[in-house]
Amino acid sequence: MIRRTTAAADAFTQRFGHAPDGIWAAPGRVNLIGEHTDYNLGFALPLAIDRSTIAAVSLRTDSTVRATALDPAYDDVTLAAADISPGAVTGWATYPLGVVWAFAQRGVEIPGLELQLGSDVPIGAGLSSSAALECSVAVALNDLLGAGFDLPELVQICRQAENEMAGAPTGILDQTASLLGRGDHALLLDCRSLATQPVPLPLHEAGLQLLVIDTKVSHSHASGGYSARRADCARAVDALGVDSLRDVEEGMLSEARGRLDETTFRRVRHVVTENQRVQQTAHVLTSKGDAAGLASAPTAGPVSGTASIGDLLTASHVSLRDDYEVSCAELDLAMDTALQHGALGARMTGGGFGGSAIALVPEEAAEKVGTAVVNSFRLAGLKQPDVFPVAPADGARRLA
Ligand code: GLA
Repeated sequence: MIRRTTAAADAFTQRFGHAPDGIWAAPGRVNLIGEHTDYNLGFALPLAIDRSTIAAVSLRTDSTVRATALDPAYDDVTLAAADISPGAVTGWATYPLGVVWAFAQRGVEIPGLELQLGSDVPIGAGLSSSAALECSVAVALNDLLGAGFDLPELVQICRQAENEMAGAPTGILDQTASLLGRGDHALLLDCRSLATQPVPLPLHEAGLQLLVIDTKVSHSHASGGYSARRADCARAVDALGVDSLRDVEEGMLSEARGRLDETTFRRVRHVVTENQRVQQTAHVLTSKGDAAGLASAPTAGPVSGTASIGDLLTASHVSLRDDYEVSCAELDLAMDTALQHGALGARMTGGGFGGSAIALVPEEAAEKVGTAVVNSFRLAGLKQPDVFPVAPADGARRLA
């Protein structure tokens, strides 16, 4: 991180002719379990990862905002602070400038800014590169402008940037993980009360690795399936007369079946069972204390009261594939291959339709699993996936 901090400071100085006022970082995330539950006010268990966006930032006095990316593929943007609004900005800059706009919406005066952003969170891989961008700028502005927003408000600011500037109708999962993550922990998130609770995730102690398999099928939540699934859930809420799908319990499912068409019923069943799996996962991690709970072998049966974390992850994938229908051939292949070669559990992570899968693997099997996944993609004539381990990391913070 020290090397990246220095590199960001040097690049900023070269670009703007003076040192930045400060440097901040915000991580990407992996969702361990709890998918498509956030906008249904349910539970999720994400972790911030050891890949992040770094924002080097200075204030200007002339109300001009300049944003530049370390990656030359992204064009510089310069505009008057007052002109930043939905529709006036396109492309990558909607995320950082969306945050500037959301601050202004809350009455914070923007004096002018220089923003330089660099990231090692792969883009379009379902690891929340966009939330990392937003959150790095949000913590920077909060400090530099003395805005004094607490972390839950920064979550809302970043979500507003994503929803209203970037046009992606997402929930709060990604931004919460990026802002509130904690090293060696996942974060149990109750999306109705917005309460968060760190849950131990001692991967190293348990002799495990959490592998990410980036399928290289890039997804976008600004279009298509993601909004369609939200609409399915909204329809179910109306038909069932509840406030949100959070209020549907397992015992209500058979009655719900009679009131919903087959597809909508399966969407609801995913949300209801996924909420249970999140709670079970958090329970195993907290009650068995840790490494033992994490490392217990899969039971290979239907998910029961004694399910291992691996079982729960795999059951989540099956539900997302069959009931929620947001997986794809590449994610299914990643999961199947990882399981066949020694993973304790595996699932797609994030919104789906591409992006990444995760696999919980014993350290000694990690290389074998990685090689097997790459080979299976080659045999199927698919793009070569990227396979790498991630570790739970701290949330957004100031580096210098
Ligand atoms: C994307 C969204 C999140 C969440 C997940 C699905 O990552 O940004 O808000 O809905 O999909 O769990």
